Amino acid sequence: MKLLLTGGMGYIGSHVAVTMAKSGHEVILFDNLVNSSSDTIKKLNKILDKDVYFYKGDLNNPNDIKSIFEKFKIDAVFHFAGYKSVKESVINPIEYYSNNMIGTINLINEMYKKNVKLLVFSSSATVYGDPKYLPIDEKHPTIPKNPYGRIKLQIEDMLDDIYSSDNNWRIACLRYFNPVGSHDSGLIGDNPTGLANNLMPIITKVASKKLKKLSVFGNDYPTVDGTGVRDYIHVMDLAEGHKMSFNYLLKNKGCFKFNLGTGKGYSVLDLLKSFIKMNHCDVPYDFTFRREGDVSECYADPNKAFEFLGWRSLRGLDEMSESAWKFLHHNEKD
Ligand code: NAD
Ligand code: UD1
Repeated sequence: MKLLLTGGMGYIGSHVAVTMAKSGHEVILFDNLVNSSSDTIKKLNKILDKDVYFYKGDLNNPNDIKSIFEKFKIDAVFHFAGYKSVKESVINPIEYYSNNMIGTINLINEMYKKNVKLLVFSSSATVYGDPKYLPIDEKHPTIPKNPYGRIKLQIEDMLDDIYSSDNNWRIACLRYFNPVGSHDSGLIGDNPTGLANNLMPIITKVASKKLKKLSVFGNDYPTVDGTGVRDYIHVMDLAEGHKMSFNYLLKNKGCFKFNLGTGKGYSVLDLLKSFIKMNHCDVPYDFTFRREGDVSECYADPNKAFEFLGWRSLRGLDEMSESAWKFLHHNEKD
């Protein structure tokens, strides 16, 4: 089938592109490169040993979306495009509402016109807000604490409304926990164009001496070692979760929500130790104050995804650490 991947040049989209293309689908990438590089297409062509189609376009320009739908007879859409920094969304909410919300509405409008009614949407565990209980299942209250999370939830609500108005839609909202790591080739990975905010990209930058040290935000949380606990999930497991969701939607109509996490929580120090052990490198760190807005612990109950999709994560923390480093090495050589 012909699959459109908005934001397909980005971290998660590029990995899903590999998984879906390897499953025999034609992937068409749509991205304005605001947080990715045009080099990714060469890397994807190399991994897949064929040319992948890339259209440089913006979801905020309805004509760009129109032309991609006119050029190809798209069967389904994977929607990754959007800004993803919680911090920036607090500082500049209008930019986030415009890009993430209006961009999504433009996309859905075009899908509607072309009668394309299968959508896999990148949501986030951020929709839950502060955990009321752990592990977090899909019935957990959704009380997001920042504009980024509120927009994800509003989009989920909008998708529910769209399905209620027309039961022919097939929609999966995938609530990712903390994706890390990279494809086995080391060619593609998490490569933010601006400042890195998330833990793993910072660890790799410190290990490669691009940053002096890692500041561990708080060592006084009520956790196993006092540092924050998260559900880190290998990006290739996440990509597999997209494939299984897509296969599920081919057989089922509805608007579904699934957690994509491992169900295991690891602390900042667990991740750090695994990274140092697997990659034999030095990662200087110190403890600083807690980061505003951070929660102590957050991890998924992934059972719904297993029950409905037959999906569960297979890769452990060490594989995540090893592959994140492999990607950085590859990029330094390029
Ligand atoms: P990313 O920034 O690497 O990829 C997003 C891509 O979208 C980028 O290539 C960017 O250039 C593109 N883009 C942004 N605005 C666009 C627009 N208006 N038109 C066209 N392209 C546009 O991010 P990612 O980590 O791959 O995340 C993908 C999706 O998953 C996002 O929606 C993000 O909110 C969500 N998500 C990510 C994480 C994570 O930790 N990476 C966690 C939860 C949810
Ligand atoms: C953040 C976002 C979340 C988003 C997720 C994945 C916030 C409040 N939440 O979650 O919405 O879905 O990224 O993109 O921004 N840490 C350090 N030092 C650092 C960076 C992080 O100690 O320099 C710690 C954090 O305190 C946390 C853990 O590492 O305990 C993971 O942090 P991060 O990678 O930023 O992810 P989240 O905070 O879970």
